Amino acid sequence: MSCCEEKPGKSMKKALIHLNIGFVVGVLFVLLTYLVVSQQTAISGFNVATTVAQLIADKQLIKDPGETISTAEVQQPPAEKQLNQGSGVSAEKGKVVYNTKGYYSETCEVDGDVRINSTALTVSLVPASSSEHREWRIRPYSRKTMPDVKMVTVTQLPDKAAAPACTVTYSMPAVIFALGGLTGNFWHDFTDVLVPLFIASRRYAGEVQFLITNMRLWYPVAYKTILQGLSKYDVVDLDDDAHVRCFPHVTVGIHQHRDLSIIPEWSPGGRLAMPDFTRFLREVYALPRAAPASLVRDEPGRRPRLLLIHRGHSRRFMNEQEILRAAEAAGFEAVATDLRRDVTVDEQAKAVNSFDALLGVHGAGLTNAVFLPPGAVLIQVVPYGKMDVIATLEFGEPAKEMGLRYLDYSVTAEESTLLETLGPEHPAIKDPDAVHRSGWNRMTEFYLDKQSVRIDVARFAPTLAQAFDHLRQQ
Ligand SMILES: *[C@@H]1O[C@H](CO)[C@@H](O)[C@H](O)[C@H]1NC(C)=O
Repeated sequence: MSCCEEKPGKSMKKALIHLNIGFVVGVLFVLLTYLVVSQQTAISGFNVATTVAQLIADKQLIKDPGETISTAEVQQPPAEKQLNQGSGVSAEKGKVVYNTKGYYSETCEVDGDVRINSTALTVSLVPASSSEHREWRIRPYSRKTMPDVKMVTVTQLPDKAAAPACTVTYSMPAVIFALGGLTGNFWHDFTDVLVPLFIASRRYAGEVQFLITNMRLWYPVAYKTILQGLSKYDVVDLDDDAHVRCFPHVTVGIHQHRDLSIIPEWSPGGRLAMPDFTRFLREVYALPRAAPASLVRDEPGRRPRLLLIHRGHSRRFMNEQEILRAAEAAGFEAVATDLRRDVTVDEQAKAVNSFDALLGVHGAGLTNAVFLPPGAVLIQVVPYGKMDVIATLEFGEPAKEMGLRYLDYSVTAEESTLLETLGPEHPAIKDPDAVHRSGWNRMTEFYLDKQSVRIDVARFAPTLAQAFDHLRQQ
């Protein structure tokens, strides 16, 4: 089967390799979305499903851009199409089911007598009787185009004789996934790994073994609470392992449905959604609040709490104190915090959960919205330079899926430091569309790296009022 040789997005892959040369994690965190979006500029309006379908249509796999469709369905012969219907990750005894729904990821569900040679990074399905020999090559990071992530070979062996002997045998299933890639950026840690891993493993209620390639040793430490919530067993570092580990079922690669999102129909059994993910986080981190405090009923006179996310490097608020005063004037109790300094994720989760509103400039810090109580408010300040579509895809849509009230505030050129530093005649001020057309590097240079904002608090006041009114009506 030629499924895995088929690599949609060749130009994207090229761009990624190119970008990897000057790789700085924080700068790259919207890359794939940006590429999706930049291809979408020809299409009017904003719709994620249409974007994906359009990209596939562009590759001539389907003709109707309005239809949401997976490449797996298109590429697979009818017999396998049947297996892939419904959850998209169904499996049958003694079978390998390949899945590439949703553009970002590719995964294989391998069911039966499955043997993993860690040294060779091969996952072999041993057939009960003689069988057709087939092979898939999977990059187990949820963005399949990441060039630094090692490939795993999934092989359906022709017969039992070719099977490697097991050195460790398990009765539970396993999930193989890679770190590396864009991990190290808080948004990517969730979007690329934790949400896809939740989708892959929640159904096992802890009875699952995680096997990790491209290990980053800090990762299982930083996200220990989440990993322990999904699996009762210590992770196995496949980079440093010489065993042949045998399982009754193995998921190779994890599936990113969309940016920081879950598409319920694609999740195992069709039953997971983002509110399940945030409920899970509240459970494992023991976060006390599942709703913002009602201002009327619970504590009359209590003001809702607003957290302003302080950024130290780029995309700073230049008039933070003035914004905090405006929030207080709107009725909030407002504080500014730099969440990522000397704070563990566990402490961070608890701190954020105590707030009713989160305010920040577009950036990874807004990922903390996952810890807010449902019904709380996320206010995203969108930097100057036609950044609205990216901002909406990465945080706006996910926030709504989580059950948050989402508000955005797009800054004008006058509120951007770019106007002072570049002058009114600079193309980055006069023609943002041209900057976007000139590519990812230029776009990030101006609009993400070199820009900070000075909010016009009079112009911002209605947004704060809207946030306050929403919380009062809870
Ligand atoms: C596992 O893979 C390594 C590297 O390819 C190979 O040398 C070794 O023989 C394999 N182990 C088994 C039990 O087949």
